[in-house]
Amino acid sequence: MKKKQAADRDIIAERSIYLITVRDMLRHAMSEFARAGIAHGHGTTSAIDEAAFIILESLRLPVEDINPWLDARLLPEERKAILKLIEARIETRRPAAYLLGHTYIQGVRLRADERALVPRSYIGELLFSEHFGGDAPLLADPDTIESVLDLCTGSGSLAILAAMAFPRARVDATDISGDALALARLNVADQGLKARVHLKKGDLFGPVGRASYDLIISNPPYVDEEGMAELPEEYRHEPALALDGGEQGIAIVRRILAEAVLHLNPGGGLLCEVGRCRDALEAAYPDVDFLWIDTEESSGEVFWVTKEQLGG
Ligand SMILES: C[S@@+](CC[C@H](N)C(=O)[O-])C[C@H]1O[C@@H](n2cnc3c(N)ncnc32)[C@H](O)[C@@H]1O
Repeated sequence: MKKKQAADRDIIAERSIYLITVRDMLRHAMSEFARAGIAHGHGTTSAIDEAAFIILESLRLPVEDINPWLDARLLPEERKAILKLIEARIETRRPAAYLLGHTYIQGVRLRADERALVPRSYIGELLFSEHFGGDAPLLADPDTIESVLDLCTGSGSLAILAAMAFPRARVDATDISGDALALARLNVADQGLKARVHLKKGDLFGPVGRASYDLIISNPPYVDEEGMAELPEEYRHEPALALDGGEQGIAIVRRILAEAVLHLNPGGGLLCEVGRCRDALEAAYPDVDFLWIDTEESSGEVFWVTKEQLGG
């Protein structure tokens, strides 16, 4: 082990002589990622985005755009730190967000570690879209949303975004994992939202009693049995509890659909992400007219259904 660490240190020292600028480092990271065949999808969707995220976050620069910095030269210690991250990303296959301890969703910087899924739900984008504020909103008047429930909140990402998108709302958020909630608690505190986002431990609706809400959002576990068996190594660093949706992927979604009607206010609705489970869901609920909403990077993965459509 010691020999390997010494060899790794030598390689890093040797390489860092040649990698002078941010551009050099970006190119190097991409070549290494391509050679290693790493899987992307934890907040970034391509090698270039992931390499840029690692470099910029490591340098504590804004992660949105690497272009202004491409010709900037790196200090020796910056080079070494980035090279170590690139190597760790390839050797351990840990998602970059876990290696760096942070990730971004809708521009909000959140803590990330193995206690919870790396936030990446498409619902984040939808909360700030025309669906909740344009000419054809899903709810009659999104400005009047006073209560939101985020089921399966994980690191708290969607609860936090909902509190930001709907400034008048009180947000309850539940998760069965104490570990995930411990991380969520830190994220909620970091964003100064402790007074409006209430984290509760328990099974789906269990912790909220008979409370009802204007809006329920959820990005629950929805990977089916086949998907779980084929997960790239990166995803195995995330809690299985956050991914495993049972044989067809819709075990938790079915339970959400069964109870949501009891927890929605009149005129309210449920926005839920189901990944590749659309067909399974439509086959299981032939009489429910789900509205499938596309996002910039997804098609047919998020549905909207109202209390009335659920029989309320
Ligand atoms: C796909 S992760 C989503 C986390 C977060 N909403 C996000 O988008 O980043 C699913 C979450 O559901 C939680 N979970 C699994 N089964 C649950 C249950 N029966 N009741 C409540 N939460 C559950 C897991 O602990 C995990 O944090």
